[in-house]
Amino acid sequence: MFSLEGKSAVVTGGGRGLGKGISLWLAKAGANVVIAGRTPEPLANVAEEITAMGRKALVVQADITKPEDIARIVSGAIETFGYIDCWVNNAGSANPADVGALMDLTPERWDPVVDLNLKWTFFCAQAAARSMTHGGCIINITSRSGSQPNPMTGQYGASKAGVENLTATMAVEWGHLGIRVNAVAPGVIPTDTSGGTTSSMTRPSRIRRQIETVPLRRLGTVDDIGALCAFLASDEAAWINGEVIQLTGGSRISVGYLTYLHHVNQRLAEAESAKNERQAG
Ligand SMILES: NC(=O)c1ccc[n+]([C@@H]2O[C@H](COP(=O)([O-])OP(=O)(O)OC[C@H]3O[C@@H](n4cnc5c(N)ncnc54)[C@H](OP(=O)(O)O)[C@@H]3O)[C@@H](O)[C@H]2O)c1
Repeated sequence: MFSLEGKSAVVTGGGRGLGKGISLWLAKAGANVVIAGRTPEPLANVAEEITAMGRKALVVQADITKPEDIARIVSGAIETFGYIDCWVNNAGSANPADVGALMDLTPERWDPVVDLNLKWTFFCAQAAARSMTHGGCIINITSRSGSQPNPMTGQYGASKAGVENLTATMAVEWGHLGIRVNAVAPGVIPTDTSGGTTSSMTRPSRIRRQIETVPLRRLGTVDDIGALCAFLASDEAAWINGEVIQLTGGSRISVGYLTYLHHVNQRLAEAESAKNERQAG
């Protein structure tokens, strides 16, 4: 069984969702964990859970779109734990107000999504790598969207595809420094945010439709992602480098098409019912 005893790890966006699951799994495997994010309360709660496991936790309130905040994560980690063995680039999202049909996208809606998920993820990885003077491991959380068509969330998928491409380049450029770089590309994982009360993921029809695309007939969990990250951070994964590991329960095949098909069917049904109403009136 692998162990992260004696190692320290940084998780961006570690206060909730997948980042929380990853932080807890790294700690469960033995690591001390730096949890970074913008909102203090969830970070403090995760730190408490890690401490209760007998590991150490450091909270760094930071916005990864600010270079000075990235620098604070690195310096805080090194001052507290001496070294960063593993850095997980988990912080990312797509604000529903920014994504939509490609025909309607504007530069103003493009930039926040691509900047957060691609540009700042890269600069976090660069900051981590610069600190890893004796080697280390970087894990980029991408998405099934990085290798699929993404109707209605096009620039999000493009940003994740960009991270997957950079993962390979980082692995090539930094391999001789003993730095391994891999990506984990999850399918749909309901979280407090993605499955929260404001999310369309709470609609039973949407959940049913998503499950239908998964050969294993269930959606993913934060534990599915956390366990893989903990393994990737371990010495037993020492030969895994430059990979994009799809973690989708087998759902990555043709899901983009299925999602779009639903969208088209919905639009056709709306047009049909509008036509019927006009005729009736
Ligand atoms: N859930 C899924 O189905 C799914 C599927 C595929 C890929 N993913 C990827 O997995 C990662 C986590 O997703 P999630 O579903 O757990 O999302 P989430 O619940 O929305 O959590 C996003 C995390 O990122 C942090 N974050 C966002 N912007 C930040 C910023 N500027 N600086 C620092 N932290 C920031 C958030 O904390 P604060 O808001 O407090 O800063 C939060 O902890 C993302 O990269 C996402 O693209 C998720």
